[in-house]
Amino acid sequence: MLTDKFQRQIKYLRLAVTDRCNLRCTYCMPEHMKFVQKDKLLSFEEMLRLVSLLAKHGVEKVRITGGEPFVRKGLINFLRELVKIEGIKKVAITTNGVLLDEYLDELDEIGIKDINLSLDATSKEKFFEISRRDDFDKVIHSLKMMVMKNFKVKVNMVVMEGKNTDEIIPLANFAKSYPIQVRFIEEMPFNGKGKEVSKSWNYLDIENELKKEFDDLKELDGSSTAKVYTSNKLNGSLGIIPAFTRTFCGTCDRLRITSLGELRNCLYSQKGMNLKSVIRSGSSDDEVIQKIQEHLLLKKASGFDEEKMNDKNLDSMSLIGG
Ligand code: GTP
Ligand code: 5AD
Ligand code: SF4
Repeated sequence: MLTDKFQRQIKYLRLAVTDRCNLRCTYCMPEHMKFVQKDKLLSFEEMLRLVSLLAKHGVEKVRITGGEPFVRKGLINFLRELVKIEGIKKVAITTNGVLLDEYLDELDEIGIKDINLSLDATSKEKFFEISRRDDFDKVIHSLKMMVMKNFKVKVNMVVMEGKNTDEIIPLANFAKSYPIQVRFIEEMPFNGKGKEVSKSWNYLDIENELKKEFDDLKELDGSSTAKVYTSNKLNGSLGIIPAFTRTFCGTCDRLRITSLGELRNCLYSQKGMNLKSVIRSGSSDDEVIQKIQEHLLLKKASGFDEEKMNDKNLDSMSLIGG
């Protein structure tokens, strides 16, 4: 079992399969983003080896992230192999949904039902303003198809002062019609360098906004990245992911592998361990796991501090995988 200095056992891997994306969300990357050369990415074979190894040491869940996972060629075949790994009980995906529709039946067949969908607006115009691409209809279509096919959907909206706070209620209303969770995220400082985040809308402001429409809003118990709420008006549920006002570090069971093959023990850690070079230098499984354990021992009790929120040099979410 992989355990850190604070007796937190690592059960959850976030694996970024690419840094590339077909959208250009302003909170994530600039229009002219410099992507990593393809040969610098881990190959799927390398990822399968790492996940098998981690599964032998207690990792049970893998969330596939990016960039946009579906822009990487061969993803579905990789997922077919990934779900077969002994010990992996759940594979989930975070996606922008643009390319999702054509893969839903295969995902269903493979047994991948947990999809987190990034969506920051409920109109074509607002969607374009935020993502700089005209793909709103495709994303909405994917969302509807997922609901129809009984996927477990969580929608992620990044809340940005002056950009989409008026979309909070319209998006929350999606959870009236559909049995999905709609979550609102405080903007984090991972935007591809150079931009400060607006911290004026925190989880309390979001909560107050939601109460305007859902006067019986009730928070449920449980510890995850999100505070989860119910209301009689909802078919699904609502969530708020507080990035800078509250952390869930105390119960964090996560490890990350970036698209460059760097192991990171925290979303906020800026320097990881070069796992790619460890495996490419011919290390045995025992040596690889020892290196992973060593890096895990550096995991801090809490990775977040106020200074990070003002740090303009953090990597883009698309490289880290969120
Ligand atoms: P599940 O619990 O597997 O559904 O994942 P999630 O909701 O954490 O993942 P998702 O990819 O949907 O990310 C939602 C938001 O949570 C993103 O903005 C992530 O950056 C943020 N997030 C994910 N992991 C962490 C973490 O370890 N710490 C913090 N502070 N935020 C995180
Ligand atoms: N702040 C908060 N959330 C972000 N995401 C991407 N960039 C940011 C940011 N700067 C979200 C995406 C996706 C999840 C993995 O992280 O919308 O849903
Ligand atoms: Fe792409 Fe997600 Fe970044 Fe938007 S937030 S540009 S969808 S990786």
